[in-house]
Amino acid sequence: MKHSGLLLIVTFIALLFSACNIEKESDYKMIKENFGEIDGKEVVLITLKNTNGNTVKITNYGATVVWIEVPDRLGNIENVTFGYETLDGYLNGDPYFGSIVGRYANRIAKGKFEIDGVEYNLAINNGVNTLHGGPGGWHSVVWDYEVIDKKGDIPVLKFTYNSPDMEEGYPGNMIAEVEYIWNDKNELHINYNCSTDKKTVLNITNHAYFNLKGAGNGDILDHEMQIMASKFTPVDQDLIPTGDNIVVEGTPFDFREPHKVGERIEEEYEQLILGKGYDHNFVLDNDKEVDAIVYEETSGRLMEMMTDQPGVQFYCGNFLDGTQTGHGSRAYNYRGGLCLETQHYPDSPNQANFPSWSLANPLSPVRFIGSL
Ligand code: GAL
Repeated sequence: MKHSGLLLIVTFIALLFSACNIEKESDYKMIKENFGEIDGKEVVLITLKNTNGNTVKITNYGATVVWIEVPDRLGNIENVTFGYETLDGYLNGDPYFGSIVGRYANRIAKGKFEIDGVEYNLAINNGVNTLHGGPGGWHSVVWDYEVIDKKGDIPVLKFTYNSPDMEEGYPGNMIAEVEYIWNDKNELHINYNCSTDKKTVLNITNHAYFNLKGAGNGDILDHEMQIMASKFTPVDQDLIPTGDNIVVEGTPFDFREPHKVGERIEEEYEQLILGKGYDHNFVLDNDKEVDAIVYEETSGRLMEMMTDQPGVQFYCGNFLDGTQTGHGSRAYNYRGGLCLETQHYPDSPNQANFPSWSLANPLSPVRFIGSL
């Protein structure tokens, strides 16, 4: 099978995109341009161009990935991720296209949790629940940035955000760092590193939407999906986990062998209906090198995803309705893109049986890369 590929490694998430034979350009390039201003802080758009000549664009608004271009099997380049041409797009109803999501990705039921008997109340933004860190989450702040360019290495684009104690209701001052590396194998590595001074919770992810035919080019129902997960966590009608783990075998959630996204999506399976399509946390087996593979036949593009996190939210754009338009004025339609949000399970702070993502050790900053 001839394909082209992209690899996403998340904190490590790595997205590997692969394709045809690529002529090498000479130098790795990084270009910075102005993308606007918020509250007196400059917003920039940084283009990373690897020696294949393929570019990724990232802004410090939300530490957001705006553009990832990779070749198809014939060498034709397309951008495969959703993004806007201007900062305004991100300020007007953006459903987290490419952004970093924190402090707590996915939903926290009723926006409440307890640590050591103290109840914390978060900002609510999804019915009665908190979604993706709240309305003022990390997707919507301007991050500081620096380029770490050690001789002989691929440069690292590093974003830092100092999140104050009780921001959106979360305890603890937190320093969040996100590093992006776009290398010559068309691998996008995303590393997270956070530290805090109080017991708190954290679940950080990247919310990129992918369509391997090209962003805004039809739906993703024909994409072949493989997820190395033997279980998933079912949800109620508000997409809050019930607390169970269900074995995928014999259900439309079994992606251990490749299946087209659309093949079983309309099946009358209770959890699918509740999720309005795939919008669930898959419990990763975490025993293979690659945790998910997406393949699109007409273009031959293939994306591999690797993570050290215990779960991935496979969301297939069920809430998109074409009102968001991005690069080249293309509309992002219903099920036009899919997300692989590597994460701890949703609502973990309220779910005793889910792996914990709480940061303990008050006063001695906790450093982690990957799961605790
Ligand atoms: C996803 C979530 C969906 C939806 C989407 C944003 O991460 O799983 O239910 O909220 O974000 O529109």
